[in-house]
Amino acid sequence: MLFAQLLRVTALKSSDHASVRAVAESLEHSTVEAIESVRRLALELRPPSLDDLGLWAALGDLAQRYGEQHDLDVTYDWQGPRERLPAELELVLYRIAQEAVTNVVKHARASRASIDVERQRDEVTITITDNGVGIDSGIAPVRDERGLGLGIFGMVERTTLVGGYLRVVPASPRGTSIVAVVPLAHAERIMERSSPR
Ligand SMILES: Nc1ncnc2c1ncn2[C@@H]1O[C@H](COP(=O)(O)OP(=O)(O)OP(=O)(O)O)[C@@H](O)[C@H]1O
Ligand SMILES: [Mg+2]
Repeated sequence: MLFAQLLRVTALKSSDHASVRAVAESLEHSTVEAIESVRRLALELRPPSLDDLGLWAALGDLAQRYGEQHDLDVTYDWQGPRERLPAELELVLYRIAQEAVTNVVKHARASRASIDVERQRDEVTITITDNGVGIDSGIAPVRDERGLGLGIFGMVERTTLVGGYLRVVPASPRGTSIVAVVPLAHAERIMERSSPR
């Protein structure tokens, strides 16, 4: 629909009326922006690297992107086997990292952040740490009725749904750590239950 609109708006740029040409010009500009936003949004909703290459590579992409786009040094470390995890679990862990790093950029005023994954036999731990102002001194928190911003609330909820838990803890000497632990067995059971026979 947006492409169709773009074509029609572009055609209006050859109107005989200067005022129509001016409006067409600005509509063309905003339509191009809308197309780009939709594309970015779609990519973020389900990052192609997560489907194609798995969590290990997708987190590497995420760390690199945030490092390049913001004035932040993002390190990434993965301990343990790199084989694919159940898709549902990969998405949960990716979303946690994405929200946590977004929060670092939005709120932490940090110079460094790290994404660490530790994959053990029966559980996976992801830790996102920054060296910023710390979560209690955060500015103007957006809160829902339970006293949580939607981002942290969502992270907790996603983790709980796959049988894990998430903690927000102060980092040393300063900053914030988000630690999420998800059991592998639980996710695999959910997958078995929901997969068609
Ligand atoms: N890494 C961080 N460092 C400092 N403060 C933080 C950090 N992460 C979150 N906060 C604080 O905690 C609050 C809640 O975070 P949360 O992600 O839940 O909400 P939000 O980022 O404000 O909004 P949303 O995620 O819904 O767009 C933030 O508003 C901010 O004040
Ligand atoms: Mg947030």
